[in-house]
Amino acid sequence: MKPVDTFASLDELDSESRYLVHKAKEASAHAYAPYSKFMVGAALILDDGTVMTGANQENAAYPLCMCAERVALYAASALHPAQKIQKMAVVAHKKNHKELVPASCCGACRQVLLEYEHRQHRPIEIVMLVSEGQWIKCPSAEALLPHGFSKENLTE
Ligand code: THU
Repeated sequence: MKPVDTFASLDELDSESRYLVHKAKEASAHAYAPYSKFMVGAALILDDGTVMTGANQENAAYPLCMCAERVALYAASALHPAQKIQKMAVVAHKKNHKELVPASCCGACRQVLLEYEHRQHRPIEIVMLVSEGQWIKCPSAEALLPHGFSKENLTE
């Protein structure tokens, strides 16, 4: 399995990853997060170069809150089902603050990433800030969620 690459700053990342981080930042402005005030943006790039973005959407009924990553993934799957996903970047900041804070994909989003990765038979790279000054480029959803649940578990 490819290693998880770490970077001390955004400038060290490749230009496509930096572009996706930029698009994820733009998307985070559309977060609807009146409860947590934690603004998350995700941007992913498809094989044909299309970039899809998502931002977290909260609800007064808290369990209905939806992460930015899944908003982007579901939109990509619904609108461009034939296009494979190459890479996704995720960023977060507190409401009314510009500087990025660490946001690591939650377990539910890892599970959804894994489903699409299996479906397209090709890894999806994930770029995110996991701690202060530490970006990672994870080579696949499988690396983010080893031994995840999949359709294989459902076969008799
Ligand atoms: N959130 C995301 O959008 N993505 C993550 O990876 C972690 C958490 C959102 C969900 C909720 O709206 C807010 O951040 C606080 O948990």
